[in-house]
Amino acid sequence: MPNIDRRGLLVGAAATPVIAAATQEPASAQPPPGRDPSAAAPTADQQRRMQWWHDAKFGMFIHFGLYAAHGRHEWAMENEAIPVAEYQNFTAGYNPGPGSARGWARLAKAAGMKYMVLTSKHHEGFCNWDTKLTNYNAVNYGPKRDVIREFVEAGRAEGLRVGFYYSLMDWHHPDGARCQDDPAARRRFVDYTHGLIRELMSNYGKIDILWYDVSWPLEAQGWESEKMNQMVFALQPDIIVNNRNRLAGDFSTPEQTIRAEAGGRAWESCMTLNDSWGYQKADDNWKDPRTVIRNLITCARDGGNYLLNIGPQPDGGIPPESGRILTAVGEWMKRNGETIYAADICQPHTSAYANFTRKGSTLFMHVFFWPGTDVSISGLKQKILSAKILKTGAVLTVSQDGFRTHITGLPATAPDSPVTTIAIECDGVPEQDTLNVREHKPRMGVGI
Ligand code: GLC
Repeated sequence: MPNIDRRGLLVGAAATPVIAAATQEPASAQPPPGRDPSAAAPTADQQRRMQWWHDAKFGMFIHFGLYAAHGRHEWAMENEAIPVAEYQNFTAGYNPGPGSARGWARLAKAAGMKYMVLTSKHHEGFCNWDTKLTNYNAVNYGPKRDVIREFVEAGRAEGLRVGFYYSLMDWHHPDGARCQDDPAARRRFVDYTHGLIRELMSNYGKIDILWYDVSWPLEAQGWESEKMNQMVFALQPDIIVNNRNRLAGDFSTPEQTIRAEAGGRAWESCMTLNDSWGYQKADDNWKDPRTVIRNLITCARDGGNYLLNIGPQPDGGIPPESGRILTAVGEWMKRNGETIYAADICQPHTSAYANFTRKGSTLFMHVFFWPGTDVSISGLKQKILSAKILKTGAVLTVSQDGFRTHITGLPATAPDSPVTTIAIECDGVPEQDTLNVREHKPRMGVGI
């Protein structure tokens, strides 16, 4: 077992108290903590900070920690009730090679992703950076290097934005659970937490995203989340933060599902490529590239982002299936990225073989089950000016009868794979009214 100095864990208790500082937005302008205030429209400052992120649409989540060495999912410490002393042994097998972060960044870029978010500390409590507040970190154990620094440098080298995931819940720190009922433990643990976040926000240059996770066992008040965010914005005025420290933050975080927020509230759907965030050797339940592309399209259609995860192996290598899937997605994005990046919210969505995105008055019909030489859209209200296959530029024939938009002249087999895009120019912002079709389309012997 590695010689973990438990006293080192408590250094955080003596950390300098967090200094309250001015935020971009007064705290009172934030919606109240608790449920996502989905009706809250973005403030001018949020619009300023978040424009790049809205345009980006697609990011890489990276779950990397000691759980990679164990290879049985990042929740194993709790799900298998592994004692702390035994779990610490995984530090010995946690050995990312020096080029690991560059490999992640290159794959993200090749996949068409525009940003990356790495676990700085997951629930297991191990810190991936050179923290002064605990010796349970990657400079003392495992790689003996600052994984966070390598990640930030690799991301920037590929022109990607970078963000840190940070788990408030901590299964390793002695105060991580007892802070719930013990005020002295809470004081120590909240100072430790704010101190760690302060380091992350101070020592790595400009950070684009702070991605909090699981707040158990405290609520916003217990975590002093207002003060936490104030510190973060004082140190990183352009950053965006999520909602998992029990404040609204800048965006909501539907997990393993795609669910748009109402009222213009920003959202990002995070999802695994198989069924695990951290590396799980035996998990072979991979999504195929078409599923990933369909999900990305749905996010872009509904005004959200897609944060798609990889769980690197203990040597930092990317699981081959993840590499294969994301490379295929990237190939598609090279041909079709213009239909995703900076897309506008798109109202049309009904088809059994296609999905839609939109830019201005151009509707992109993404056909994922190729039906043959024609496709139809029901209830499209706008007049179609032209339609073409995006990949080949082939111009298509369109006819409209007030209910059906019928596009003909397509090849019998799909010209692109795994999804073919048809670019449709409309005479206004495209809208679909399928109820009108149900109610008013002429029926047998009626209306003809
Ligand atoms: C959950 C899980 C965690 C994962 C995260 C990603 O909160 O606890 O393992 O990191 O979701 O959204």
